[in-house]
Amino acid sequence: MFERLEPVIPDPILGLMAAFRADPDPRKVDLGVGVYRDDRGETPVLESVRRAERELLARQSTKSYVGSAGNPAFNEAIERLVLGDEHEARLTARVRTVQAPGGCGALRLGAELIRTASPDSLVHVSTPTWANHSPLLSGSGLRLERYPYFDPTTGGVQFGAMTAALERLPPRAVVLLQASCHNPTGADLSPAQWRELLALVKRRQLLPFIDMAYQGLGDGVVEDAYGVRLFCTELSEVLCAVSCSKNFGLYRERTGALHVVNETPAGAGATFSQLVRIARGIWSMPPDHGAAIVHGILADAPLRTAWAEEVVAMRQRIQGLRQEVVKQLREHCPQRDFGFIATQRGMFSFLGIDTAQVRELRARHHVYMTDDSRMNIAGLRQENLEYFARATAQVLAG
Ligand code: LMR
Repeated sequence: MFERLEPVIPDPILGLMAAFRADPDPRKVDLGVGVYRDDRGETPVLESVRRAERELLARQSTKSYVGSAGNPAFNEAIERLVLGDEHEARLTARVRTVQAPGGCGALRLGAELIRTASPDSLVHVSTPTWANHSPLLSGSGLRLERYPYFDPTTGGVQFGAMTAALERLPPRAVVLLQASCHNPTGADLSPAQWRELLALVKRRQLLPFIDMAYQGLGDGVVEDAYGVRLFCTELSEVLCAVSCSKNFGLYRERTGALHVVNETPAGAGATFSQLVRIARGIWSMPPDHGAAIVHGILADAPLRTAWAEEVVAMRQRIQGLRQEVVKQLREHCPQRDFGFIATQRGMFSFLGIDTAQVRELRARHHVYMTDDSRMNIAGLRQENLEYFARATAQVLAG
């Protein structure tokens, strides 16, 4: 059966993770996979998570199944975190939430739902987009198209080109958007642009599918949800895939959720039953541990405050690093303007060098980033900022 299978090239991000681990050089700098790191280069378990986990272990009385929709208390808590307590879609029962194994599981669940409702749907994703969007969405049988998004000359969003392309889409076309901290570019929509996009989506009757993987790491927990909350109030149908990997540091616990907004509560009920059926047919039931921790944090006021403070600390560290790396690059590569890095948000930015230069940075200086020059800003540390800027200068000098 399998003797004719060809080996495939590893996913660019996971392949880089393995290459970094295998590099014995002590100077190595990991700007590859998007995980938050502290100034020692570690990805610690959040203190709020540790406390919630201890309480969970003490009180947990069973490991019995949770059900295909996951933990209902987690689903409600994450819905409130994403949409806000008094959101119209929640108050009118137009939104339903299903727990999923990470943001990836939520994206796949959403794609399967779209395919069930409308098998010929095209999903339009930004140029560029996260490397795993394509396998996750097209793996369900949906076809993908691209719309312009990133403007490398400004480091911002090419909003005019983006909206011009979306204006041409037929009704019911699916548009994948990112709520904040755009992966891989760091270029986000402003509130005014979200409002303009809303008018376009309404006019063209498009279906927004929003990927929210970094709530709190851009401008704040509420600020990063601006577009999601607006769209879910104003539109009759929206999908939103949520990940707790980054903002709760629960990467390996695979904790996420899919929110689906419908026009009516009855429609929401039917959609929910379809989501449960789909989940049952893929993973049957999501892992419980991470979701129980998130619920434990969000339902307990002191723990929630402690978590919110940890999110602020992560965000401030990333923003501080953005300023500092620009300063270092300005000093060591004065011929080039890297100021855009400080204006972008979240973990990622493109350094803006070509693939040959990225590979040289890796081979000669042990600095790891994906071939498109996406770097995880959180991988920088006080002790390697200057090393990184010097290495970049050498590579730019040829
Ligand atoms: C990334 O973009 O590096 C992260 O979201 C991790 C992943 O799974 O690719």
